[in-house]
Amino acid sequence: MATLKIEKWERWFLYATVVVLVGFFIAIIASIGEAGIHLPTDEAQVDPAAVASGDVPPFDNPGVYEQPDGTYQAVVVAKAWSFDPPEIEVPVGKEVEFVVTSTDVIHGFLISEVAVNGMIIPGQVLKVNATFDEAGVYDVICHEYCGLAHSQMFGQVKVGGEG
Ligand code: CUA
Repeated sequence: MATLKIEKWERWFLYATVVVLVGFFIAIIASIGEAGIHLPTDEAQVDPAAVASGDVPPFDNPGVYEQPDGTYQAVVVAKAWSFDPPEIEVPVGKEVEFVVTSTDVIHGFLISEVAVNGMIIPGQVLKVNATFDEAGVYDVICHEYCGLAHSQMFGQVKVGGEG
């Protein structure tokens, strides 16, 4: 009978629902454990007003710094509508840690060639690493709408010679 058939299919849809839920749960756990994806934490919080007035290291000296272990750290302050410094120069093949915050509104930090894609949230510190294996000029794009001149807000990473 037709009704029996519908009940049978209904049971399989219930099973499928459980399978999908378990699958999503595993995906969430894997994204946390394996890929290290997480929401912003309070590990690195700053006062945006103090950053704006230059009272918060390292944001009182935006720029690129070579570290003792040979990697580089780029300290960047974002504000409507620019990145400070607007140009970051690093050598080819060196790991670069970007340490970024905003003094006003939410901005974006996108360097698509090296899969850097972050939100710069006032009060939070964005830390993201990248290695540029090819020399060239890479655009840093603000991809969070941040006001009138949002479309003009970009920076550059200039990657040159061996470090
Ligand atoms: Cu900053 Cu859009």
